[in-house]
Amino acid sequence: MSEPLVISQLPYEERYTLPAIERLADTPEQVLHKQTRIRELLRKRNAVLLAHNYQRDEVQEVADFVGDSLGLSQQAARTESDVIVFCGVHFMAETASILCQDKTVLLPDLKAGCSLAAALSIEELREWKAKYPGAVVVAYVNTSAAVKAESDYCCTSANAAKVVASIPEDKEILFVPDKFLGAFVALQTKRKNLIAYPGYCHVHRTIRSGQVTAMLESRPEIELMIHPECGCVSSCMTKVLDGTLPQRRTFFLSTEGMFRHVQESPAKQFAVATEIGMLHRLRIQQPDRDFLPVNPDAVCAFMKTITLDKILRSLETLSPEIRVPAETARRARRAVDRMLEIV
Ligand code: 13P
Ligand code: SF4
Repeated sequence: MSEPLVISQLPYEERYTLPAIERLADTPEQVLHKQTRIRELLRKRNAVLLAHNYQRDEVQEVADFVGDSLGLSQQAARTESDVIVFCGVHFMAETASILCQDKTVLLPDLKAGCSLAAALSIEELREWKAKYPGAVVVAYVNTSAAVKAESDYCCTSANAAKVVASIPEDKEILFVPDKFLGAFVALQTKRKNLIAYPGYCHVHRTIRSGQVTAMLESRPEIELMIHPECGCVSSCMTKVLDGTLPQRRTFFLSTEGMFRHVQESPAKQFAVATEIGMLHRLRIQQPDRDFLPVNPDAVCAFMKTITLDKILRSLETLSPEIRVPAETARRARRAVDRMLEIV
């Protein structure tokens, strides 16, 4: 067995500041007015607005594309717009900048960080790599550009297993920074030589296996959709294997994978184990089905920093801009390109 990583630095919770979630009091007319003004400014600036599935409802509604980390990176890579307004979090805007060095990438609020990305510094990665010479580093997209630049492959929750499976079996893999996703991918790919860094997302960690089973007990016909960053993912996978959870009704999916899954499923009720911003689009797209959050308190304060007012300001001032330095972008590009190729 490999030695566990000794984290010499700050505990994860002290590496970031959770922003307060702004309560907005706009009337529906005011929301519509702001959305109309945003669309005008997008045209004027030749800009595209990309929004993650966890964004506020009214931000998702005004976006050109709403999707998961993989889908948004694909959209960024192929856009012909001069400006990308990224309504997501910092590492997502950085990934867009890595892919589009000639474009202006805006993040409407710089407080939109990510607890998972904050769990791994470049110094820690270097220290860890030095302990495992010859190992291949697979970085989840929820990492800084500097970490991506030191990694061999990048992946998202939509293609993590495929990326790992593409690496020769005899190669040791350092999977960073999510221990839940890492353990899940090791189980899925039956990979014994995958070592997962012990980071986690503070939102998904709170989604526990007891909440999933309670949901199933109260609604025996419900279908379970579980994001692989969840604290419950390994135990739910083990329960699927031993038959405690129904194999035919338990699915481990990225956020966009959940949308695709629902379109093909005959089920009427779905338990959604991820951040609750997901529910808005699911309910709009499938109004005759029921979507229930496994943990209604699973809210990402970082994602909710982006508001219509901040998007407006961003488009008016063309700031705050996220620009990954050219040399870091060049070195990170190989790992990010592999993420886009292995789908
Ligand atoms: P997805 O790529 O599945 O959208 O996940 C991104 C993320 O940050 C989940 O917390
Ligand atoms: Fe990061 Fe977690 Fe928020 Fe996703 S939900 S952006 S992993 S803090």
